[in-house]
Amino acid sequence: MLTRRHFIKATAAGLAGGACLRLAPLQAQQSEIHLTAGTGLVNFSADQKAPTEVMHYNQSVPGPILRIPQGRESLIRFENGLDESSSVHWHGLRIDNAMDGVPGMTQVPVEPGESFEYRLTPPDAGTYWYHTHQRSWAQLALGLAGVLIVEEKNPPVVDQDLVFAIDDWRLDDDMQIDRNSLGAMHDWAHAGRMGNVLTVNGETEATFRVARGERIRLRLVNIANARVMNLLFNEPQISVVAIDGQPVEPFAPTDGRVQLAPGQRTDLIIDMSSEPGQRSLVEVVIGEYAYEVANFSYRQEVRREQALDGTVRLEANPLQNVQLPNDFLEVPLHMGGGAMGRMRSATYNGKEMDVRELVKNRKIWAINGIAGLPEKPLFSVRRGTAVSLNVDNDNSWPHAMHLHGHHFIYDKTPDYWRDTALFARGEQGSMRFIADNPGKWLVHCHMVEHMAGGMVTWFEVT
Ligand code: C2O
Ligand code: CU
Repeated sequence: MLTRRHFIKATAAGLAGGACLRLAPLQAQQSEIHLTAGTGLVNFSADQKAPTEVMHYNQSVPGPILRIPQGRESLIRFENGLDESSSVHWHGLRIDNAMDGVPGMTQVPVEPGESFEYRLTPPDAGTYWYHTHQRSWAQLALGLAGVLIVEEKNPPVVDQDLVFAIDDWRLDDDMQIDRNSLGAMHDWAHAGRMGNVLTVNGETEATFRVARGERIRLRLVNIANARVMNLLFNEPQISVVAIDGQPVEPFAPTDGRVQLAPGQRTDLIIDMSSEPGQRSLVEVVIGEYAYEVANFSYRQEVRREQALDGTVRLEANPLQNVQLPNDFLEVPLHMGGGAMGRMRSATYNGKEMDVRELVKNRKIWAINGIAGLPEKPLFSVRRGTAVSLNVDNDNSWPHAMHLHGHHFIYDKTPDYWRDTALFARGEQGSMRFIADNPGKWLVHCHMVEHMAGGMVTWFEVT
């Protein structure tokens, strides 16, 4: 488990030695973007003794921040420099099915040395991310993720537009990724593979330089395999302006706390109001402890004596015009399995198996009694059908359910659209949406060990 000892405190952010990769994400803003997966070394802090071996995109962990325009096509050429197959999934984008990056479903895996051209025309602006969708329980844990920004046509006026990508690593005493635990069924049957080191933008102590009176936009993205991040901000003037990329009616988070399940995003607007020279911490609350993961470090100069007036509201996306009807195709989605659960058997590859046999096949979770991708879809509908996924999280664990290619209304937060919703253990709730994007789409838990362990299904829009 996470211990304080593992949290490396560094005073200055930077690289030790010259052999390492860049930590600060790069900005890519050309019409054709190249994204190359490879392996290499990074330091998560300035005083790290030996660099950590990772998988990366474009020599950077997390990968470069990609900025693409709303409503126009961007070409992203993915090259696989790994020695295993991979793919890139564009999490939260309502794009063409063929570009969704799911090997075996929307494309063939991209083999070592090969490449794939992704053409993305995102209808909605906002904060998204990209990640491997091949053996993601390993490749994501090793670093294959980055932040994708779809730029608004009329972005709000801010002094800084910052990204805050939080990740969770399981490192050994030599600061190497604990590869022996990749694939450990114990983690898969419990909450997923938790780490012992948290990073923001690839640093154990990320520093954001700010000035009193500045208005900043902070795009929070949880790129961890399995850890739900409970962030605590010590700034009084915060408002949430978007969730999972989609604008929301601005609201202040209660007690400065923002929860992000794996895959989720939240955009904040913060009016920086501490004194020059101060540091205000961003912490992750785990049990009884708060761990510093980043800080705002105030410059001596003051940007404005008085904070800017008024609330920032983001421009509505096309999705905001969608109205859900009163009638839905009701689809039950029962989630069973895991440690301390009641599942006795499930179907895997068309065969009924008891739990012992399932575990031999590395399966321990089931949706509607089926472990892993079923041959037949969970449902198949005509384009435009309103669907209500009626979730029964009937096991002992929370799960972050994610829909590909669509956003939905989660019944506990009916005021905004999401693409990933966290269901508490025992929770029942619904995910309602219009199935309006043709193709074959995954539904899965974004605790990626749970997905690998069987908590995944798919639906079809014709
Ligand atoms: Cu963020 Cu199926 O993925
Ligand atoms: Cu799960």
